[in-house]
Amino acid sequence: MTQLSAAAPAVGLVDEAAYLEAVAQARKAADAYYGSGESGLDDETYDRLLRGITAWEDAHPGQIAADSPSQQVAAGVTAGDVAHTVAMLSLGNVFSDEELTTWAISVQRRLGGASVAGWAVEPKLDGVALAARYREGRLVQLVTRGDGTTGEDVSHTIGDIIGLPLTLTEPVTIEVRGEVLMTEDQFAAANALRTAHGATAFANRRNASSGSLRAKDRAYRVGQTFLAYAALTDPGHTDDPILAGLTHTRLVARLAALGLGTTADTPLATRSYATLDEVLDRVREIGALRAGLDIELDGAVIKADNPADQILAGTGSRTPHWATAFKFPAAQKITVLRAVQWSVGRTGVIAPRAVLDPVDVAGTTITYATLHNPADIARRGLMLGDHVIVYRAGDVIPRVEGAVAGLRTGTEQPIDIPELCPRCGGGIDRSQERWRCARGRACGQKEAIRYAVARDALDIDGLGEKIIVQLVDKGLIEDFADLFTLTHDQLLTLDRSGAKSADNLIAAIETAKTKPLNRVFCALGVLGTGRSMSLRIAAHFGSMQAIRDADAVALAQVNGIGNDKAPVIVQELAELAPIIDKLIAAGVNMSQPGFVPPASTDAETDAETSAQNAKSELPLAGLTVVVTGTMTGPLADRSRTEMTELIAQAGGRASSSVSARTHLVVAGDNAGSKHDKAQALGIETITPEELAHRLAGHLT
Ligand code: IVH
Repeated sequence: MTQLSAAAPAVGLVDEAAYLEAVAQARKAADAYYGSGESGLDDETYDRLLRGITAWEDAHPGQIAADSPSQQVAAGVTAGDVAHTVAMLSLGNVFSDEELTTWAISVQRRLGGASVAGWAVEPKLDGVALAARYREGRLVQLVTRGDGTTGEDVSHTIGDIIGLPLTLTEPVTIEVRGEVLMTEDQFAAANALRTAHGATAFANRRNASSGSLRAKDRAYRVGQTFLAYAALTDPGHTDDPILAGLTHTRLVARLAALGLGTTADTPLATRSYATLDEVLDRVREIGALRAGLDIELDGAVIKADNPADQILAGTGSRTPHWATAFKFPAAQKITVLRAVQWSVGRTGVIAPRAVLDPVDVAGTTITYATLHNPADIARRGLMLGDHVIVYRAGDVIPRVEGAVAGLRTGTEQPIDIPELCPRCGGGIDRSQERWRCARGRACGQKEAIRYAVARDALDIDGLGEKIIVQLVDKGLIEDFADLFTLTHDQLLTLDRSGAKSADNLIAAIETAKTKPLNRVFCALGVLGTGRSMSLRIAAHFGSMQAIRDADAVALAQVNGIGNDKAPVIVQELAELAPIIDKLIAAGVNMSQPGFVPPASTDAETDAETSAQNAKSELPLAGLTVVVTGTMTGPLADRSRTEMTELIAQAGGRASSSVSARTHLVVAGDNAGSKHDKAQALGIETITPEELAHRLAGHLT
């Protein structure tokens, strides 16, 4: 994740006038953000502005504006009416490995040069800070951060927040601090409730959290999630030793044991490390996890783990000196929704896609984003011309979270929702949230065939779109399985088809019969399985028969399928049975080369034992391998798909990103950041030629 060290550069301020202008702009955004929960600046732009302001202030300490947002916690707004016993602080930010190192050295200096006893690393949860007061184990009050000194009483939400039980497992008197946030489902439910009551949907999850906490007289209740990251003993109970002397890591575990929501027992759990290298690895690991999470993170937090170190390092007026946030590149940006395109997928699913003013999100220019389905558009109350928040974390497809209603001008237009299938003009099946053409797969017959013969699937040369259209329109084929029974004479009936090209096509189709199972399976276009999932399925089961025999439980064993996808695949395979039968009858290969059946738990028989041995003798057995750059030597011309297949056949697992879990990197010509990262992490790196040498005998 090289993106992690992409520092957000400061806005360069040339003179005092520019500085005061920047202060005014940041103030306005901060007031809006902490007030209505909705700001016209996205996080990254705001952070850059604030960095410019602090840089200028560092150089001109005599001219700091009294109302500069740098001077106050939560930019000095929204004081509520409940005093905090201990100020709720903010965190300083670092944006790169170097900045983190500089910060760690500054902590050490504060300890008089002594080493920090250990660093706790945990996610920076992107929600709203909340203090929950428990008296003798019972939840009595909830208070927002406010300006850090006083917050707002939001006790009316007691009972709505998962992770804040009404009673703890022990009768302790403590104040727990943490973040309230929404999972994707909670956000969808909150928007559905809100729009059903005639209000506009929330622009993003954090707005939804903040708005839902503070709304007092709502006719409905919104579910949220709380995750704790700190706790204090009540001032009246300071002799109570319940939290005394705990390291931060132990404290979080203790809070979990009391029944509070924490990240303990999840891959995001707070962990402690001795060295900065380990800290940086964990920060990267948390960054890599971000894409697959149900909650939003905007960084990792690094804290001196030991309470003695925390006290020695001390606390400034706004932030503690013993903790800081390593910010990830902003995953959210604001841009304008220009149009909505409706496409019909291979399986007849009708999907809306947002066309946006191009915007850079975490290093990638985003022009399109998914809008899921028509119900989702309605729930979010989106309109053309809206300023929308676009979200992208890691590798996931960018999506539109919602509209910033405060930026509407009145010129926004409603989004046209199709009445008929945008591809075939037929009816639409609206029985589920995800609309489908009433003709299902038949609507996308030609697209399905094109998908089946494309490079990542059967890779049939010379079978372009024009030929497919003619074959279908003349009634010569109904699906791609019919290709395998086409005759030379039938091909001659096509426009501009001579004997030679017909021969070539027949030969190419014949070759496709020998493709490995993963290609054949991929060609089926089963919902939710692309080329890499097809490879995993083929490598797991070894034969089409075994895949067809598998039930949802067996399919869910395949890495990445899980309990939601598995039944869909079973149903899809049942629908595709006639095509699969035709393929078998035509003599298409139905097995995976190099497949070794997994040993059963009691590997007693000789066959199983030798199969197990054969598997562990494969040259890449158990290794996670990343391929980067252009392949050379015997592997020149191999596509990434082919490299992935090759690695799987040699017992390894191909991955697209380098992490601490990578065992081997194959770096071809012009290998870039992945190669650099592998070297930085000390991962073994070899050339394509060296890989070919290791795989001698396994090259297909
Ligand atoms: S510790 C004295 N830990 O980030 C330490 N804060 O930008 C103060 N946040 O106000 C906070 N995850 O709302 C801490 N693991 C974490 C956090 C976290 C999210 C929030 C919190 C804080 C803000 C500062």
